[in-house]
Amino acid sequence: MKRTPLIPLALLLLVAAVFLAVPAMSQQDMTTVPTEGFKQTTRLPAVFAHDAHNEKAALADCSACHHGEKDGKRDNSADTSGIPCSDCHSAQAKPGKTPLMRAFHRQCMGCHMDKQKGPVTCGDCHEPAPKK
Ligand code: HEC
Ligand code: HEC
Ligand code: HEC
Ligand code: HEC
Repeated sequence: MKRTPLIPLALLLLVAAVFLAVPAMSQQDMTTVPTEGFKQTTRLPAVFAHDAHNEKAALADCSACHHGEKDGKRDNSADTSGIPCSDCHSAQAKPGKTPLMRAFHRQCMGCHMDKQKGPVTCGDCHEPAPKK
C-alpha cells in the first residue's frame, strides 16, 4: 500500500524527462527567432542562435526573457521557457497590452542598448547570420 505511489511518480519523471528533451533540442538548434506569431512578415527572421547568444551574453536566468503573467501584469519571477511569446503577446494591438513586434523589439533592443552590446539597427538583426 505504501509503495504504490512510487511507481506513478517514476513514470511521471520518465515522461517529463522525455518531454523536456524535445524542446531542449529545438532551442539548441534555433538560429533565428520564430515568426509563427505573425500572419505575414515583411522582414527576414531575426538572427538569434539561442544557446550561443545566451552563453555569450552571460544570460543564465531564463526568466530574463521568458517572463510570466500575474493578474494581467508581467511577472518577472515566473519562468515560461518554451512558451512562445505570441501566447501572451498578439500581433494585433490591444489596449494595455504590448503587441508582439514591440515585445520582441523592446526586449532585444532594450537590453542591447542598456548593455551597449548587441545589434540595434534593423539590418543587423533581420538578415542572414552576420559575418564574424
Ligand atoms: C535586436 C534585434 C532587432 C532589431 C535591431 C530590429 N528587429 Fe525587428 N524583429 C526582431 C525580432 C526578434 C522580431 C520577431 C521575430 C522575427 O522577425 O524573427 C522582429 C519583428 C519585426 C517585424 C514583424 C515581422 C515582420 O517581418 O514583418 C517587423 C516589421 C520588424 N521587426 C521591423 C524592424 C525594423 C524596421 C527595424 C529597424 C528600425 C527592426 N525591426 C529592428 C528583432 C529586431
Ligand atoms: C535573450 C532572451 C532569452 C533567454 C535568456 C532565454 N531564451 Fe529561450 N527563447 C527566447 C526566444 C526569443 C525564443 C522564441 C520565442 C517564440 O517562439 O516566441 C525562445 C525559445 C525557447 C524555447 C522553445 C524552442 C523552440 O524551438 O520552440 C525553449 C525550450 C527555450 N527558449 C528555453 C530556454 C531556457 C531553458 C532558457 C534558460 C536556460 C532560455 N530559454 C533563455 C529567448 C530567450
Ligand atoms: C505568460 C504570458 C507571457 C509570456 C509567455 C511573455 N510575456 Fe511579455 N508580458 C506579459 C504581460 C502580462 C506583460 C505586461 C502587459 C503588456 O505589456 O502586455 C508583458 C510585457 C512585456 C513587455 C513590456 C515591458 C515594458 O517594460 O513595457 C515586453 C517587452 C515583453 N513582455 C516581451 C516578451 C517577450 C519577448 C516574450 C517571449 C520571449 C514574452 N514577453 C513572453 C506576459 C507574457
Ligand atoms: C538581457 C540582455 C539581452 C537580451 C534580452 C537580448 N540580447 Fe542579444 N545580446 C546581448 C549581449 C550582451 C550581446 C553581446 C554579446 C557579446 O558579444 O559579448 C548580444 C548580442 C546579440 C547578437 C550578436 C551575435 C551574437 O549572438 O552574439 C545578436 C544577433 C543578438 N544579440 C540578437 C538578439 C535578439 C534577436 C534578441 C531578442 C530575441 C536579443 N538579442 C535579446 C544581450 C541581450
